[in-house]
Formats: sequence, structure tokens, C-alpha cells
Amino acid sequence: MARILITSALPYINGVKHLGNLAGSMLPADVYARFQRLRGHDVLYICATDEHGTPAELAAASSDMDVRAYCDEQHDIQKRAGDGFSLSYDYFGRTSNAPNIELTQHFAAVLEEKGLIEERVEHQVFSIDDDRFLPDRYVEGTCPHCGFERARGDQCDNCGRLLEPTDLKEPYSKISGSKNLEVRETAHLHLIQTKMEGKIRAWVDASTEWPSLAKSIAYKWLDEGLRDRSITRDLKWGVPVAKDGVARPGFETKVFYVWFDAPIGYIGATWEWAEANNGDWESWWRTDKGADDVTYVQFMGKDNVAFHTVSFPATILGSEEPWKSVDKLKAFNWLTWYGGKFSTSENRGVFMDQALDILPGDYWRWYLTANAPEGSDSAFTWDHFQSLINKDLADVLGNYVNRVLRFNKSRFEAVVPAGGEWGEHEDWLAGEMDARLKSAAENFEAMEFRKAAGDVRAIWALGNEYLTRAEPWTKFKTDPDAAAIGVRTALNFMTVMAKIAQPVIPNAAATILDALGIAEDERAWPQGEAKTLLTALPTGQSVEPPEVLFKKIEEADIEAWSERFGGAEG
Ligand code: 2FM
Ligand code: ZN
Repeated sequence: MARILITSALPYINGVKHLGNLAGSMLPADVYARFQRLRGHDVLYICATDEHGTPAELAAASSDMDVRAYCDEQHDIQKRAGDGFSLSYDYFGRTSNAPNIELTQHFAAVLEEKGLIEERVEHQVFSIDDDRFLPDRYVEGTCPHCGFERARGDQCDNCGRLLEPTDLKEPYSKISGSKNLEVRETAHLHLIQTKMEGKIRAWVDASTEWPSLAKSIAYKWLDEGLRDRSITRDLKWGVPVAKDGVARPGFETKVFYVWFDAPIGYIGATWEWAEANNGDWESWWRTDKGADDVTYVQFMGKDNVAFHTVSFPATILGSEEPWKSVDKLKAFNWLTWYGGKFSTSENRGVFMDQALDILPGDYWRWYLTANAPEGSDSAFTWDHFQSLINKDLADVLGNYVNRVLRFNKSRFEAVVPAGGEWGEHEDWLAGEMDARLKSAAENFEAMEFRKAAGDVRAIWALGNEYLTRAEPWTKFKTDPDAAAIGVRTALNFMTVMAKIAQPVIPNAAATILDALGIAEDERAWPQGEAKTLLTALPTGQSVEPPEVLFKKIEEADIEAWSERFGGAEG
């Protein structure tokens, strides 16, 4: 049994995430966690809300709320949305909780001891009318690169370039709108990444198990040359800049930059998990305390890769303490909305809570996994969504389950029928199933989610093909034994179809396994001889058809949803 630590990029606290965020981090992490649990491994899947920084302060202010109260509320909302999608976190923590604060201050202290943090004076935008500095998103103005007029101080949303607040032309305060700004000097802590370039490159070179997208982004950053980076901000909300347990002189009104404390939040949330579950967080994170046998796997969108392959490793490696670092890093491209960006303000795209309003989580989980933005960006369209759901879930899987169980109920009194002999059709099914099962397991293991979903779909399709060959329907009148072996094998095969569906559509899979009377502790990933798997159900066991598993998406649904959430013309 292997020990596998899984984290998905921590969602910002400022509002419910859209389907693209879900598809590129939390969902694949969950699918992978579920798969590895089914394989019998010891899995710890950790996530949390990323709560600090200007996005949280600004969102709280625009809701007229105290920032802590805002974060409390949003954390619960995001937790519920995750539950609605059956995200099986072992813990969903918060970067604003005590463990992360303690750890962040610890890392800063150790890095300073190692000569990797220095106090430097910077030039920052100060608002005279607001009587404060305006870091990051507190200042907006015209992008010096593309001329976009509402570029934020940290990044231009139009051309995507990273910015410093002082780069903006015609800057104005996001708080008051005031243009009465000046550049003032203020001291900040800087992480001296330039001293660590060699160490980080060597570590990336040695990280042989990263998929290519992650590796190429890491090298791009390294090749461009690392820059020393300011890790504090003039803000109230964040991890206080303390030294030896007291505020650092001159830093009383400053906090750590959100990207410094956020990834440390993976460790902080594991600590929270330990406190809630009497667990040992250090055995997952400290190689001197048992974590040397842990495989650590991270999931994230491509915009986060540099922070996880360069910045966070600078913190971890720079400390020279025995922390666990990432072994496998799975990065995703974008899920787009008809080729463009999701946007709340422009009514384009579906957010997690809205998605659950219209359909249960499994529908979305299937679509977003089968259409995962892996090799390139992939576009959500309502037509594609409708066709995938109707074909794969309603026709191939749902229809098979209903047909077989209903026929069995009407002809064999809703029990697994006895009679008949294993023959050529069953041999055929066993052979096909064997090859596909192997491929499905390999693809889940390799985090190739589109391919894994393709294998799952192909296995489901085998069921229908088997029925065409074995023809229990037509044989029932003339040769009841042949019908019995056909139905019995079809029921056994249904257990396999449902078991392999569990990582992606856990609720529908559970409904099928319940209907087949499979106990909770017999739901592991199918392993072993195909013939054994296809003859495992005891004859006489009662098996009842479930309610309709998946309803088809109709044209009228598509019209209504396109209107509500935007579509081709949006
Ligand atoms: O991009 C984001 O949504 C960030 N909140 C991800 C943070 S990942 C980790 F470092 F916390
Ligand atoms: Zn720009």
C-alpha cells in the first residue's frame, strides 16, 4: 500500500468558482484520489480556501462586510459547492487559520536565517486621499503594454502580462477612484530567488515524473532568469510579519504577500486535518518524520505552475529543512466558454453553484473529465455537453443498466439467474474487458483523464455489444439456459462497469452497486482474472432496477440554459 498525498490548487475565497476552475484542479484531483483509494492506497487529499490578499479585501469591501466575516461565509459556500460535486477532500481547510500563520512565519524566519530574505526599500503607489499604500489590485490604470484601461496593479486582464502597480499609466485608486496618487518609499521583505536558481534548476532536472506541460513552464521561468521577489504587502488582511513572536519593527502595518502564504497552506491544511482527526501531519510532510515514503501529487491550472515549480520550491528548498516536495505535478490548460473566457459580469459561463441548480454533480463530472483540457484548451459548448451526456451516460451506461435489470426482473424474478454454461460470447467479453481494464487503470494512474474516460466509455460499450451477441432477449423463449447465462454475465459485467465508473461518477456508480447488492467493502477497482470477475455474483442474489440513472438533456433544456448562461452568441 502506497501513501499518496494529493493537493489541488487552493481556490481563492472571492466567490464561487466556475466550471473551468473545477475542471483544471479540484475535479481531476478528486478523480485521482478516488481511483487511488479504490486501488487500496492510503490517500490524503487536501484542499483549502486561499483567503488572503487584495482579492479578499476588495470582495469583502464590495459586499460591505468585514473581511473575516466575508471569508467565513465564502468558505462555507465553497465547501458546500465542493460537497455538491462530491469532492472527497480529507480536509478542506483555510489559509487564514492558525497552522498556516504559524508555518508561514516559521518559513520566513528560517529563510532569513539562511540569508535568503532581505529588507529592501521599494517604491509603491500611495493614495493621499485614502491615506494608504495601494498594493496589487488596489490600483488600476492603463496597461503600458496593450493600452487596456482597466488593468490591475498586479496583472493586465487583457494581455495577461504581470505588472507592478508603478507600471500603470493614469493610475487611480480602486477604493475611492482618486487620482491623487504619488510614489513613496516603503520597506518590504524580499526573497532572494537569484541565489537559489541553481538549486531549483537541479531539482526540476531531477523531477522526472512531471508531465510535459509542467516541465516546460518551469524551464521557461528558469531560462528567463529568476528575480528577487517582494513577499510582503502594505495590507491589513494576511499573515502578520512577525519576528520571534512579535511584530517586526517597521512592519506593523504589513502582512505577507498572498502567494507566499498560499502554498504553505497545503501544509497548514494538513495540520488542520490532523487536529480534527487525531492524525499526524508531519508524517505526510517531513521526510525526517515518515514522509520519505509519500508520493506527493499536485493538480493545478497552467497559470499556477510557475508558483509551484519555482516560487514554492524556493521556500521549501531554501529552508534546508526536510520538507516533502512535489513528485508529480499535473497541470491543465483552460476550459473555455465557446472559445472565450468565463465571465460573471458578461453572463458567460456556469459557476459551480449554478451548475448544481440545473443538474446533479455526476453529469458535470463526466463531461469535465471526458473533455478535460489536457493536451490543449478545450471548449465547453451546450451542444457538446448535451451529446456527451445523452450518448455516454443516458444511452450507453444508463440504458444498459435499465434494460438488463428490467428484463431480469420480468423474466428471472429479480434475482441473479442460475443455469447455462460459459461459452464463446463470454470468452469474447472476458478478453475484451481484460485489455480495456488494464488500459483504464494505466491511464488513471498516469493522470491521462481524457484517455481514462475513453477507456471507461469503451468498457461500457462492450456491455451493449455483448448483449447483441448473446441475445438473451430472443433466446429466452427457445433456450432459457442461454438467456440465463447471458443475463447473469451481463449482471456481473455491470458490477465491473459501475466499479470503474466510481472515480468519475461516484453517485451513479453507487446507485448501480447498491442495486446489485454489492457491499461497501467489495467495491474496489476490479483486479484479477476476467472470468472470475464475470462469475462473482452469487446466483439467487436479489438485484433490483434503480430509478432512472440519467435523464436525457432535451433541446428545450439547451435553449433555456443558453439563454440563462450564455451560449454561441454570448
Ligand atoms: O490561482 C488561484 O486560484 C490561487 N488561489 C491558487 C493558489 S494555489 C496554492 F498555492 F495555494
Ligand atoms: Zn495589457
